[in-house]
Amino acid sequence: MSGGFLNQRPLEKIEKLKQQRKAVILAHNYQPGEIQDLADFCGDSLALSRKAAQTEAEVIVFCGVLFMAETAAILSPEKTVLLPDKYAGCPMADMITAEQLVSLKQKHPDALVVCYVNSTAEVKAESDYCCTSSNAVELVESLPKDRQIIFVPDQHLGRFVAERTGRELILWPGYCITHVIISEEDIKGAKVKYPDAVVMAHPECSEPVKGLANQLLSTGQMLNFAGESFAKHFIVATETGIIHALKKRNNEAEFIPASEKAVCPNMKKITLDKIIIALEEMKYKIEVPEEISVKARKALDRMVEVLPAR
Ligand code: 13P
Ligand code: SF4
Repeated sequence: MSGGFLNQRPLEKIEKLKQQRKAVILAHNYQPGEIQDLADFCGDSLALSRKAAQTEAEVIVFCGVLFMAETAAILSPEKTVLLPDKYAGCPMADMITAEQLVSLKQKHPDALVVCYVNSTAEVKAESDYCCTSSNAVELVESLPKDRQIIFVPDQHLGRFVAERTGRELILWPGYCITHVIISEEDIKGAKVKYPDAVVMAHPECSEPVKGLANQLLSTGQMLNFAGESFAKHFIVATETGIIHALKKRNNEAEFIPASEKAVCPNMKKITLDKIIIALEEMKYKIEVPEEISVKARKALDRMVEVLPAR
């Protein structure tokens, strides 16, 4: 199949292949700029999950990481979900296994389990509810006050939710290496250069970094907030891929990454060439075994229903 496309440019090739395969391309806000630009839809984890559940396309090419493609496969079992690089994983999602969660549940038999969407399908299957950083606070707030809550795997998102809801959560010590690399010193240094800047931080950041932020937001919420703001400078404490999306949303303001080191190597594994190969060879198909998918779906259905406050 590739022979006929040899002389075409990557974007034209992708467009043709997309039509042939009746495919849609979904991209996360951390993807390389050229992939954000070619995607049919770009967004945060919650918006992408909703899109995957609703699309009429037969094939979803997921430009993101494995847990996102798995979520799409669970929410749209009749569709073919392709992840262009099979090694694009999320280290935080792999910080807790289903077995570890089961033994935590045994220690707290009456607790409800909320898992962050950045988790494996097996962990979702052992959870009562799933959430993203956009709706974690609202989801936890909706749970009965007399029940203990286990929150996995991100300790930093968990602490943010505990603080916002006033509820004590049983946390797992997972973390995102890309977000915890951003330091208090990074924010203070950027503030010296841009004293008037609004600091936006993702809840996955460490507590000292969040303590210096004006706004704690998911990536989608950052785009909405900056798009509506009249501020001239923003210090952005999250993965640097978001800067491209922020500039597209608001070309009047300047967006300063809190740290140039905050790069998620897994998100950057997706390339134009790999998207072409994915569509040509229909790989890598992400399939979740039915017994896991059915259980995980219950936790995910609730996630897509709960609306964030903003
Ligand atoms: P968002 O849901 O805010 O896009 O975050 C996803 C993620 O992986 C953050 O590291
Ligand atoms: Fe996972 Fe962190 Fe990359 Fe998000 S930025 S996908 S949490 S490793």
